[in-house]
Amino acid sequence: MKVFTSIFLALLISCPGRDQAQKFSAMQKNIHPAQIWSDTNGNAINAHGGGILFFEGIYYWYGEHKLDGKSEAQYVDGGIHCYSSSDLLNWKDEGVVLTVDYKDEKSDLAYGCILERPKVVYNEKNKQFVAFFKLYLKGVGYETSNVGVAVANQPTGPFIYHHKFHGGGSPNGSGDFSMFRDDDGKLYHLTVRKPDKAFVIGRLDADYYYPEGDYRICEGIELHTEAPVVLKRKGVYHLLGSGSSGWKPNAARYFTTDNVLGKWTYHGNPCHGYNKIDSVGIEKTFGGQSSYIIPVQGINDAYIAMFDIWRPENPVTGRYIWLPVKWKDGNLSVESYPHERDRQKAIQQAEKDGGKNIQSFMEIQDRVADQSKGLYGANQFGPETWTQFMNVQTPMMQNMMNSYVEQSKNLFVQMQDKMQDQTRAMFSTFPFGPQGAPGGQKEDKS
Ligand code: DGJ
Repeated sequence: MKVFTSIFLALLISCPGRDQAQKFSAMQKNIHPAQIWSDTNGNAINAHGGGILFFEGIYYWYGEHKLDGKSEAQYVDGGIHCYSSSDLLNWKDEGVVLTVDYKDEKSDLAYGCILERPKVVYNEKNKQFVAFFKLYLKGVGYETSNVGVAVANQPTGPFIYHHKFHGGGSPNGSGDFSMFRDDDGKLYHLTVRKPDKAFVIGRLDADYYYPEGDYRICEGIELHTEAPVVLKRKGVYHLLGSGSSGWKPNAARYFTTDNVLGKWTYHGNPCHGYNKIDSVGIEKTFGGQSSYIIPVQGINDAYIAMFDIWRPENPVTGRYIWLPVKWKDGNLSVESYPHERDRQKAIQQAEKDGGKNIQSFMEIQDRVADQSKGLYGANQFGPETWTQFMNVQTPMMQNMMNSYVEQSKNLFVQMQDKMQDQTRAMFSTFPFGPQGAPGGQKEDKS
């Protein structure tokens, strides 16, 4: 019985262990804003205009899947692409979890539609993952928009298209949006209404399917505010957004309120610093446009702001700028390092800490892989052994499973600890330099 237990454990533990060890050799220690970000397979992450859902210990990144070889003018949207991660640095490709329809021309998702800025929210009542996205039907263009809604029973999908509605209570619908879930579970759709570009808020029904009641104007929020991201901290609602200039970057804008349905206060541009890689300053949000703010789990007051660098001629090559959010007098700011000296110091420190974490994490993996290698090597798993193995009694299988689950649980707890340290460390490494020169902005129709 011991032999079977060993073989079973070896099968269950050694294979994932080896896999993991290979992946971790390419493990990312830091976020490198504005640079190519590869997933754990080594492919550039393809999840633009995205958002993050944290569910049962895992972060899920959902974004626009851009088709290779197409420009924005050539039907580039392929659906929603999902990645998963436990550390916000290393992302596993979970595939395209909602695809456009390449066969049915009449489908709302017929290839040729524009599908942008997906955000996924978990609905506790229905135990359902609900994806929202900007949906412009094929051949319609940016004049009239819909909010597309798709649902799934698990975070990695598949998401099934459910329906669409016009946001903002307008027959022309609405554009960029944020889905904000308040502490009481109520979900709000904050969006720029078409065609007047007023910024409005509406509440969704308990299923998170349709708006319930009327939208109302968010007093104090400028017209033409796009790319909104809403978060709540210490009873205050914060809205980070952009102006409207198509795919070209413009300056970020920031508002707060004590009442999500009430009046907002404008605080100007909350960004500081410079993107040295692309030579862009805060007048163009480092070359990016906001898409989401991630609350980092397990670290008090830690948030990461996500921005997209759009590349409309070749959208699949668009990049991501993730920066730490800082709080001063209750207000947020998004900062890069204004001085090279500070940046270098931060990188050195994080590498020291991060390196240590990775090392211990790898050690755990190696130990598990090594142990199971011995077991596996000594007992070749041929057809005979397999037959014997398949004949073992259910209670024994149960024991083996319990033991495996217990081991995995311990390993998982150790991994979580390491990952948390690492997340803390990565906040201090952002390769940005001194303040840049001012630039202009142009309006668009989206
Ligand atoms: C800006 C929006 O934020 C993007 O999602 C996209 O719709 C572009 N405009 C299109 O010009």
